[in-house]
Amino acid sequence: MATHVCPIWVGYFLASRLRKLLQNPTRIIGPFVRPNMTVLDFGCAMGFFSLPMAEAVGPGGKVVCVDRQPEMLDVLKRRAARAGLLDRIQCHVCPKDSIDLKEYDGALDFALAFTVLHEVSHPDRILSDLGRLVRSDAPLLLAEPAGHVTPQEVEHMVALAREHGFVMTRALLIRSAHAALLTRAATQEATISEEDAGVRSGTAAKASDEHNRESRGRR
Ligand SMILES: C[S@@+](CC[C@H](N)C(=O)[O-])C[C@H]1O[C@@H](n2cnc3c(N)ncnc32)[C@H](O)[C@@H]1O
Repeated sequence: MATHVCPIWVGYFLASRLRKLLQNPTRIIGPFVRPNMTVLDFGCAMGFFSLPMAEAVGPGGKVVCVDRQPEMLDVLKRRAARAGLLDRIQCHVCPKDSIDLKEYDGALDFALAFTVLHEVSHPDRILSDLGRLVRSDAPLLLAEPAGHVTPQEVEHMVALAREHGFVMTRALLIRSAHAALLTRAATQEATISEEDAGVRSGTAAKASDEHNRESRGRR
């Protein structure tokens, strides 16, 4: 059972420009987020992904930002206000083991859970909520930090997600992460090109391991 929650000081580091050199948020969410969409950033912290998502949905869209630590959301709101994006952001402090947000049942066009599930004590409950919240054919991008979370743990999360109606459609190659694209519909066609996001089929852990090995080799 997970007990560790990301400290606030790490939240500042995660939202820093430096991280963009490793994980470019606009490029990562780009293939999935379009104007006028309603999207979710679960475990958003200070909005490293939420702000680029708000840019991508445009003035007609909405980003629902969920975190269990209100301090993270306070900083996110300040950053969004500075960027002129506050009107497209809705912040929600959730309880420890639930996303809640019933008013969005079946309404989300995309959901992101980036390096958060390993901090959740009952990921099955969160995956059940996610299964309820996303539209039937909408993608869920699940990513966990490589090195910190083992490939086996990620495979376990994907297996848990399967119990809540998700199927993995692609492993995504994101530096320093094990990432998988899931959908509740088995027939989800590929929406991104290999060039866009470096997509390979196979398990999330296998593909990201290969990718991270290749990246290290290049350095
Ligand atoms: C490691 S940070 C990742 C933040 C962000 N997704 C990113 O990649 O920059 C994890 C975040 O998830 C939040 N979190 C942890 N457990 C949570 C839960 N059960 N419900 C909602 N948020 C949670 C933490 O407060 C923290 O802000």
